[in-house]
Amino acid sequence: MAWQHIRVARFGGPEVLELAQQSTIPVPGPGEVRIRVLAAGTGFTDTFIRRGRYPGFKGPLPFIPGYELVGVVEDTGPGVSSVREGQLVADLCVVGGYAQYAVRPARFLVPVPDGIDPAEAVCVPLAYLTAYQMLTRYRRLPRGASILVVGASGTVGTAMLDLARLLGLKAIGTCSAVNMAAVERLGAAAIDYRAGDFVAAVRRLTTQADGTVGVDAAFDAIGGAHFARSWACLAPGGLLVGYGAQHMAVGAASLASAALGLARLWIWNTLGGLFSGRRAVFYNITARREAHPEDFLADMARLFELLRERAIHPIVVERLALARAREAHARIDAGGLGGKIVLLPWPAS
Ligand SMILES: NC(=O)c1ccc[n+]([C@@H]2O[C@H](COP(=O)([O-])OP(=O)(O)OC[C@H]3O[C@@H](n4cnc5c(N)ncnc54)[C@H](OP(=O)(O)O)[C@@H]3O)[C@@H](O)[C@H]2O)c1
Repeated sequence: MAWQHIRVARFGGPEVLELAQQSTIPVPGPGEVRIRVLAAGTGFTDTFIRRGRYPGFKGPLPFIPGYELVGVVEDTGPGVSSVREGQLVADLCVVGGYAQYAVRPARFLVPVPDGIDPAEAVCVPLAYLTAYQMLTRYRRLPRGASILVVGASGTVGTAMLDLARLLGLKAIGTCSAVNMAAVERLGAAAIDYRAGDFVAAVRRLTTQADGTVGVDAAFDAIGGAHFARSWACLAPGGLLVGYGAQHMAVGAASLASAALGLARLWIWNTLGGLFSGRRAVFYNITARREAHPEDFLADMARLFELLRERAIHPIVVERLALARAREAHARIDAGGLGGKIVLLPWPAS
């Protein structure tokens, strides 16, 4: 039976995403499973990979893009006991999600509880897990602590605001003017990053009666020189979590500038004592999963539980057929989406 996937044979713009067919259904090898993909998440990181700029994936070409998927285990290879046929699972696959079938190692698959919409579930592996781990795995932020979310209207940003509300944190978020109302609806104070220097606005919003200024933690994926601006928003003892190089990804900054941003984080962290106890770290979801697989599995399970209880609320802006992957990427490139476009590889029956 022929099955469909999206194929990228050269790096570039959305036009490099091509709908392709394969004639044989893949057979899982030892330790692998075949998944019938019900929902594939799309997002900025997929466009980063598509452009050929993502440090964590440089090919080989051709490849099937798609950082995250949710689907049903259809067949298991020898030696697989952690999941069973018929089970709904989620996977942070980095590539391979935009397809009707995916053959994946069983090791990092996470069961998705019954009753969860696959399109909402697929917002968990990348966006919500990133947000959750950054908020909980470096510091125990007490209720009432303040955070700055740079890019608050994106998929990670909205997940952070959703979780911040659950954790009782006071959030400030930067976004475009068009997304300010949406960010405010998520309970944050919104700042238009195009309307001036957000550092002054954050400092104004956080000035305390005793003269203390700044947030307890800041989260920044713009990278490079932008980290210095987020660092300037921290209160004494505050933590900066860098987690991206968005300016470099879209060609607005060089690789050298992105590397300098990482070097800054390292220097600030090492010399924290000279900076009123402020600290800085870089978060990388796949590196952290490799280093702490038990945290990955526990945090994913926790997030699916929260989703089942309707305690978190992923924003799915649209569900599109696989054939419309190119359109999804063009819309991500244009910015201002305010949530995730999910690809549904199979027609509704
Ligand atoms: N390190 C990791 O493990 C990890 C994991 C997941 C994601 N990421 C990275 O996190 C970033 C966000 O991913 P995403 O999926 O949330 O992307 P997204 O949905 O496209 O959101 C991007 C956000 O950035 C905002 N933005 C764009 N330019 C900005 C600027 N100059 N200043 C402030 N905000 C700006 C956008 O605001 P408007 O649309 O309102 O303009 C939007 O809120 C990406 O760089 C991605 O690669 C890293």
